[in-house]
Amino acid sequence: MQDMINTQMDTELIFSAELISRYEKSGPRYTSYPTAIQFNEEFNSKNYIENALRTNENPLPQALSLYFHLPFCSTVCYYCACNKIITNNRRHAKPYLELMFRELEMQSALFDKDRSVRQLHWGGGTPTFISTKQMSDLMDFTRSHFSLLNDDSGEYSIELDPRESDPKNLSFLRQLGFNRISLGVQDFDPDVQRSVNRIQSEKETYSIIEAAREQGFKSVSLDLIYGLPRQNVESFSQTLNKVIAMQPDRISIFSYAHMPERFKVQKQINELELPNAATKLAIYQNNIKTLIRAGYVYIGMDHFAKAEDELAIAQTNKELTRNFQGYSTHGDCDVVEVGVSAISKIGDCYAQNFHDVTDYENSVNASIIPTLRGFRLDSDDILRRYVITQLICHFSIIISDIEDKFMIDFSEYFYNELQALKKMEKDNLVSIDLVGITISPTGRLLARNICMVFDKYLRQTAVESSFSKTI
Ligand SMILES: C[S@@+](CC[C@H](N)C(=O)[O-])C[C@H]1O[C@@H](n2cnc3c(N)ncnc32)[C@H](O)[C@@H]1O
Ligand code: SF4
Repeated sequence: MQDMINTQMDTELIFSAELISRYEKSGPRYTSYPTAIQFNEEFNSKNYIENALRTNENPLPQALSLYFHLPFCSTVCYYCACNKIITNNRRHAKPYLELMFRELEMQSALFDKDRSVRQLHWGGGTPTFISTKQMSDLMDFTRSHFSLLNDDSGEYSIELDPRESDPKNLSFLRQLGFNRISLGVQDFDPDVQRSVNRIQSEKETYSIIEAAREQGFKSVSLDLIYGLPRQNVESFSQTLNKVIAMQPDRISIFSYAHMPERFKVQKQINELELPNAATKLAIYQNNIKTLIRAGYVYIGMDHFAKAEDELAIAQTNKELTRNFQGYSTHGDCDVVEVGVSAISKIGDCYAQNFHDVTDYENSVNASIIPTLRGFRLDSDDILRRYVITQLICHFSIIISDIEDKFMIDFSEYFYNELQALKKMEKDNLVSIDLVGITISPTGRLLARNICMVFDKYLRQTAVESSFSKTI
């Protein structure tokens, strides 16, 4: 069964249930290449420092993207795969914030002050778990150590859980410097909400959106998850219609990644209540159709945006990139992440902080950047990262562009990959010619699988146990 969905743009998406079912397998989400599985502990804080200092030598000062991980949540959602600390004790935030300040101080010493912070993001967990005073202190401290943009031209965003936010606080957040918000919704159906322990009314969600608009926030993004217990096509369609009525600028609909061995809290999920593969696929199909008919552009992998949103504009201008928060504008920024488990992407290296708060604390208290592990990309990794990013963000690569940039003969270098792609070409997922490789309307929903062809590490990795399903 094929369903042609004409978008308002000049692109098309074709949903082929047969091909999606056939290609569905576990695979990376390519928020980085190589993926975090390849990071190793030989890469330490000393390597991180050397690498960071080197990036100051660029002839033009390279802008920064700052991310803060605030892991606390007062209740647990059973599906959650984020790195969080569940506690009702607000006092726990204080010592953690003190550690973050110290890390921030160490990090700021590595980057020249002429490198402006074009993007800033507070994620979690629940960033609003901390008090307004603590938020002000964190922002002031950041401002005194990094060159934040003071003219509202930066993309400064915060993740809000509507259950932990008050519409009255939106003006405070706006004054603090935030101009974008992202809200977790997941599903409005009360039955689904009960089964995942996240009771959140439409009213409390909408009141935050309304307040954000009144306060002049430039973008509102909502997160949903499909594949949760007790969901079906009809119920999720109702949620989606309610979400569309709220007119967010961006909508992310994640496929529920159920990996209870890795995320222990998911053992609370009753597996018998999970929708089966056919229902999940039907929900997915309906999501795409509904959102595109409502005027949203399919950005790629779970992400939709209004045509006038920066994400859609960045895609049109070929400036879209992917990072640990998903799709992002400004691919040229070095990403500095602060807090437990945060992953920085600086120059040709990735570096991940300790997951565990005690390890993080020991390192920071010893005045050592809390790098647990990392990865230095070699020239082959950099080339493959470029190819994968182009494919996942722009659905095409131009061979001459890659040959000029990396001084290679593409058909020779990627001989095996081209052979593998030819099989996908027979299924009409890609077209290959002398100019380049283009992912077809049918292949766009399987872009992740096409990228996997260029991932040399997948041949060495136990894919099934390491990654979630592609759909
Ligand atoms: C980093 S979390 C934090 C969001 C915020 N704490 C909230 O719940 O409102 C960001 C998003 O990840 C998604 N997410 C969390 N666990 C997931 C899972 N197991 N599978 C798919 N998406 C998931 C949810 O949509 C969530 O809103
Ligand atoms: S989904 Fe958000 S609020 Fe729920 S446990 Fe995860 S991080 Fe916390």
